[in-house]
Amino acid sequence: MDFNDKVVLITGASSGIGAATAIYFANLSAKLVLVGRKENNLRRIAAYCEKSKGIQPLTITADVTEDAEVDKIIEETVRHCGKLDVLVNNAGVLKPGGIKNSNMDNYDTVMSTNMRAVYHLTMRATPHLIESKGCIVNVSSISSTKPNALTIAYNVSKAALDQFTKCVALELAADGVRVNSVNPGFVKTNILNDTGLSEDQMELVVQNIVNNMPLKKPLQVDEVAGVIAFLASNKAKSITGSCFVIDGGSLLK
Ligand SMILES: NC(=O)c1ccc[n+]([C@@H]2O[C@H](COP(=O)([O-])OP(=O)(O)OC[C@H]3O[C@@H](n4cnc5c(N)ncnc54)[C@H](OP(=O)(O)O)[C@@H]3O)[C@@H](O)[C@H]2O)c1
Repeated sequence: MDFNDKVVLITGASSGIGAATAIYFANLSAKLVLVGRKENNLRRIAAYCEKSKGIQPLTITADVTEDAEVDKIIEETVRHCGKLDVLVNNAGVLKPGGIKNSNMDNYDTVMSTNMRAVYHLTMRATPHLIESKGCIVNVSSISSTKPNALTIAYNVSKAALDQFTKCVALELAADGVRVNSVNPGFVKTNILNDTGLSEDQMELVVQNIVNNMPLKKPLQVDEVAGVIAFLASNKAKSITGSCFVIDGGSLLK
C-alpha cells in the first residue's frame, strides 16, 4: 500500500486509534492532516509522523462538535494541501450510563461527537472527495450491534454511524467515492478515562474483556490502523458500504 501524494485527514489523531492511524499512514508516505482538541498531543504525534518519511503533517486544533470548526477543518485542509483524498472519521467519546442512571448532557455529547460531527464533516468533505474520487473510513465499534446496558448512548451512536456509512456509500458510489467503517472490539486507549474507574478497576475490566475474547489476546491500536489503511487503499477498490469487524472474535459470543 502506498499513499504517496494522497491527502489523508484523521480526526481524533491526538490519542489512541487515531494517533496509531496517523503513524501508520505516515509510514505509507501520506500527506497528513491531523485534528484533535489537545494541541500538545497533536503536535507530539505530528512530530512522530514527520520522523517516518520527512513529510510534515498539518495539525488543526479543533472541536468537531462546533460547526464553525468543522468548516475550518475542511477549508484549511484544501487551502493547505490543495485536495482531500481520504477522510477518517475517528474522533469519538464514550460516556457510561444505562437508562436509569443517564443524563441528557452525556447523551448529547456522545451523539454530537460520534454521529452529528461525522455527518457534518462528511457533508463538507464530499465535494472534495468527489473531485479526487476519494474515500471515507468511519471508526465505528462492535457496540453498534452488540447491546450493552451500561453504555446505551454510545451503542446507539455507533448503530446510527453504521447506517450512515451504508447510506452515504449508496449515495456516493456513482461518484466513485467509497465509504466503509472499521468496527473494533475493545482496545486499551484513553477512551475509558471518563468512566471514573480506578487503574485497578480498569485493569480488571480489561482482563475480563480479554478473557471473554475467543482469541484471548488484547487488540492493539496499530492492528485497527492497518484495517483503516487497507479500506482506504486501492486494494479495497471494490469494497463500499462494509462495516469491517476486528474484535478477536468477541461478536462470536
Ligand atoms: N478503544 C476502544 O475500545 C474502541 C473500540 C471500538 C471503537 N472505538 C472508537 O475508536 C475511536 C477512537 O477512540 P480511542 O479508543 O482511540 O479513544 P481516545 O484515545 O480517547 O481518543 C479519542 C480521540 O477523539 C478525539 N476527540 C474526542 N472528542 C473530540 C471533539 N469533540 N473534537 C475533536 N476531537 C475529539 C480526542 O481528541 P483530544 O484528546 O485531543 O480531545 C482523541 O484524539 C472512537 O470513535 C471510538 O468510539 C474505540
